[in-house]
Amino acid sequence: MSRQFFTAGLSTTDPLVADALAAEDRRQRSSLELIASENIVSRAVLEALGHAMTNKTLEGYPGSRFHGGGEHVDTVETAAIERARTLFGARYVNVQPHSGTQANQAVFFTLVRPGDRILSLDLAAGGHLSHGARPNLSGRWFEAHHYTVRRDTGRIDYDQVEAQAQEVRPRLLIAGGSAYPREIDFARMRAIADAVGAYFLVDMAHIAGLVAGGVHPSPVPHADIVTGTTTKTLRGPRGGLILSRDDTWARKLQSAVFPGVQGSLHSQILAAKAVCLGEALQPAFRDYASAVCANARALAATLAERGITIVSGGTDTHIVLLDFSGRGVTGQQVQDTLAAAGITSNKNPVPFDAPRPSEWVGVRLGTGAITTRGLGEAETTRLGTMIADLVDALIAGDTADAVASARAEVDTLCERFPLYG
Ligand SMILES: Cc1ncc(COP(=O)(O)O)c(C=O)c1O
Repeated sequence: MSRQFFTAGLSTTDPLVADALAAEDRRQRSSLELIASENIVSRAVLEALGHAMTNKTLEGYPGSRFHGGGEHVDTVETAAIERARTLFGARYVNVQPHSGTQANQAVFFTLVRPGDRILSLDLAAGGHLSHGARPNLSGRWFEAHHYTVRRDTGRIDYDQVEAQAQEVRPRLLIAGGSAYPREIDFARMRAIADAVGAYFLVDMAHIAGLVAGGVHPSPVPHADIVTGTTTKTLRGPRGGLILSRDDTWARKLQSAVFPGVQGSLHSQILAAKAVCLGEALQPAFRDYASAVCANARALAATLAERGITIVSGGTDTHIVLLDFSGRGVTGQQVQDTLAAAGITSNKNPVPFDAPRPSEWVGVRLGTGAITTRGLGEAETTRLGTMIADLVDALIAGDTADAVASARAEVDTLCERFPLYG
């Protein structure tokens, strides 16, 4: 092997990939990220992700590995577990799931069997694909039923969930989702699960950072098992985690993750998970979490004042879900218009929306990344005004001036709040 293999940089060896990475770097620096599932990780997390620890193959858990040479990965995995335990008040922690979806699969592997009934939040009402949606494995293997939100409030109606649970008699009740902007009453959901003899899973993927930061009630005391991602509000690497308040399911969950649904672990990602969980234990993380919610409230209030319908009338989290039904525009058109001005968002269904993504009339916004970047309520309010101006221009059929003026303001904000120095 030539020495160059170990020394040459990416731009020398693979210009195509190097150029794409450089372009992505520029894109992130020069646009404002409002996709609710995204965030900006610290330099320290990036350093761990780019480490040669990726070379290490390991299966099993600290203290019982199938391969040798795992002592340093043991250190980071043990740190990640201990930190998550402290952060979330959980007794059982598994940090190996490669993704949130695989964390959920491991829980299914533990608690239910193919053909069992599960009851979860409807996709259009903010649920997640991995909770029994038809195109997902979970929708094929289980008899999935879905509760929704009230048409008039956009919120979960717990009496209705209870009535549906009594009718369906699910083996597993799931709370949590990707676009539900309101606090979830975990105690009430637990009571519903108990009333029908169901297990109770909370998927806190989106709100894990808000729970860690003390600005959203924790599901850990209420659920049999909690899953989540270290991505999104927790502001870490891409990956999943599983928690439980006690060790009831510990043995089964360990073998459900490995060898149940996964093989070897992603060593360098475990290191990055340990770093992000350590960051979330710092007092500053609580300030970040409350700023995320304050920014989301400011964004929702500004947009509502400008006549944009906000699903549920506001937010308790980082998510602001916009509903353009009856306005003559689709979510895709709004997403594209914002993108032209350097504001990144995603089209989304609103409750009871059409099934085809091209017809969705929602746009989901989230304040995790802009808060990490340093934008406060004043800047977020201004951003809300820019978004409302862009939407008005789109509806009026001429976006050129609004896009140009918003693009200039986005450039200024990006310069004021730079990434990674
Ligand atoms: C509620 C919820 N669960 C699970 C996931 C899946 O996570 P991943 O993309 O890591 O599989 C997501 C991702 O958006 C999510 O919102």
